[in-house]
Amino acid sequence: MSTPRSLTTARHADFELEVVEGTWPTDISGEMVLSSPQHCTSMEYGIFDWGAICRLSLEQGTRGAGPGRFAWQSRSIQSPGKRLWDRLPKQFATSGTGYQSVLGASNASNTAPLPWGGRLYTTWDAGRPIELHPETLEFVAEVGHRDSWGGSSLDMPGIMPFLLSSAHPVVDPERDCLWSVKLDFVMEPSIGLRPAVVRYDPADGTQVRFWPLDGIVFGGSTHTVSQTRDWLILADSGNFKPDPAEMAGGARELTIDSEVPVWLIRKDQLEGLATGTPVTPTTLTMAPPAGHFYARWEDADGISVVWEGMDLMDLAFYLKPDDLDVNGNPIDPASVGLYNMAMAPETIVEVLLDPESGKAIERGIYREDWTFNLQLSAMDWSTEGLTKPTLHHVSYQGCRPGNISQRAATLYTDRIDLDQLREATPGALATFERGSMELKAKWEYPNLGDHITSPTFAPRNCGTRSSQSAYAGGEPGGHDGYVIQPVMSDDGFRVELFDAAAVGNGPIAVLKGTNRECVPLVLHSAWMPAYHHLVDAERLRFSDELTDDLMASVPAELHGVIRDVAAECDGLF
Ligand SMILES: [Fe+2]
Repeated sequence: MSTPRSLTTARHADFELEVVEGTWPTDISGEMVLSSPQHCTSMEYGIFDWGAICRLSLEQGTRGAGPGRFAWQSRSIQSPGKRLWDRLPKQFATSGTGYQSVLGASNASNTAPLPWGGRLYTTWDAGRPIELHPETLEFVAEVGHRDSWGGSSLDMPGIMPFLLSSAHPVVDPERDCLWSVKLDFVMEPSIGLRPAVVRYDPADGTQVRFWPLDGIVFGGSTHTVSQTRDWLILADSGNFKPDPAEMAGGARELTIDSEVPVWLIRKDQLEGLATGTPVTPTTLTMAPPAGHFYARWEDADGISVVWEGMDLMDLAFYLKPDDLDVNGNPIDPASVGLYNMAMAPETIVEVLLDPESGKAIERGIYREDWTFNLQLSAMDWSTEGLTKPTLHHVSYQGCRPGNISQRAATLYTDRIDLDQLREATPGALATFERGSMELKAKWEYPNLGDHITSPTFAPRNCGTRSSQSAYAGGEPGGHDGYVIQPVMSDDGFRVELFDAAAVGNGPIAVLKGTNRECVPLVLHSAWMPAYHHLVDAERLRFSDELTDDLMASVPAELHGVIRDVAAECDGLF
């Protein structure tokens, strides 16, 4: 059993959905936004392709939908890089790590939407956040001048900087700033990547600030940044390792780590500290590796983190055309270019990170045979909800032997139980109690053609009390509201809506496209109120970075097109 073919064969398009089961509630509002890598090129690993933003309005008859219908919209993110690719496709080659070009590094911005203060951003691990217009979804600007990020992560020619960062920077509600990370290739004290904390204050306009972590060098990625009121939490995701042997045309040799370093930095260490000044973090160790982790905002009782483990989920391992799956069958051509799916059930754990002792104290853990492919989660992102989280909702996609290659099984032969990977198992939406990680509810998807993806929490009656933060509903924490569960299927894309307090009762309403439309692969989602206007602010222009030196680093015959794109982008705000 493989994932739906439509993940790679469907195309982005606008369409309308209608209620096909249950009743859509009247106390839900706003929109679900989703990031997606487009399928612009037949590249080896599809997650590196240019990004799109998708939007589902949660109120019928809005965003251009007819009466009783719900609008789905999708827009290509027309960043300067994408505009250059449109005009100069022959200047871009592809490999297992995305686009390479004499023009510089491509910011695909295809991984996660980030609503913040009436604005909408999208993110990627290998580029700066990008701001979109919240009404039209058109590209507006990239965040932070390249020089203020400390320059490219690796010295290279080109007008587009290479900025290794995080797809999940985090908004600080007290300081009204964004915390992110930047990775630099270094040779000292060893060869590897050195992380730096990055802070973006909108009041600083086109500038960000950064502080390298003194003495820290590692070989992975920093997919998530999390925080409490007083602490920033960074970690080596541990499960994405670009392999030089594979990049040179050989077989993949690197495997993911079994444990990873976690770095804690006190926010007040950075107050008034000049940008570029190194800071010393507190280092802890966690297992298993995790792409995603989320701390409770309130830290008077310690740094409490829900750690979404990715046991034997090697995100750098992708499926190739001549691969066989673990049952000896050829990989479905429609799955080629997707990632090799999980080779063990995943562990979710809540831990208390203690900077004094350097220990991670386990408070609750959950792992069962069915917890394969812990995909993504839904939680209440309001400040009130993050302060006292109650429920954490997680989508598990189930075991998918058709998307596990024999190549991967051979590489990991000492670490996997092959008999556990032979049969496909149902996906499930599960609710855990924060703190104890006790399973409170579970809704199974026994149809193996259903591929559930990034869920979102939508608060109930949002915005009815002016004393609350922007996203807070009546009872913040994750139990009072709705879980929106997108379901990818070759029989047509569905959106299933659950009462967050009773996921086990099944969906209270189901939406489906009026023509059974399918939707291609999407990654993270987020909930946001419906905004219509671009906030007035100082923003970076593409032309601001086109210095004579950088222009001289690309062939002169391309300068005219670059100037055309810059002039076009200068007119966007
Ligand atoms: Fe992510």
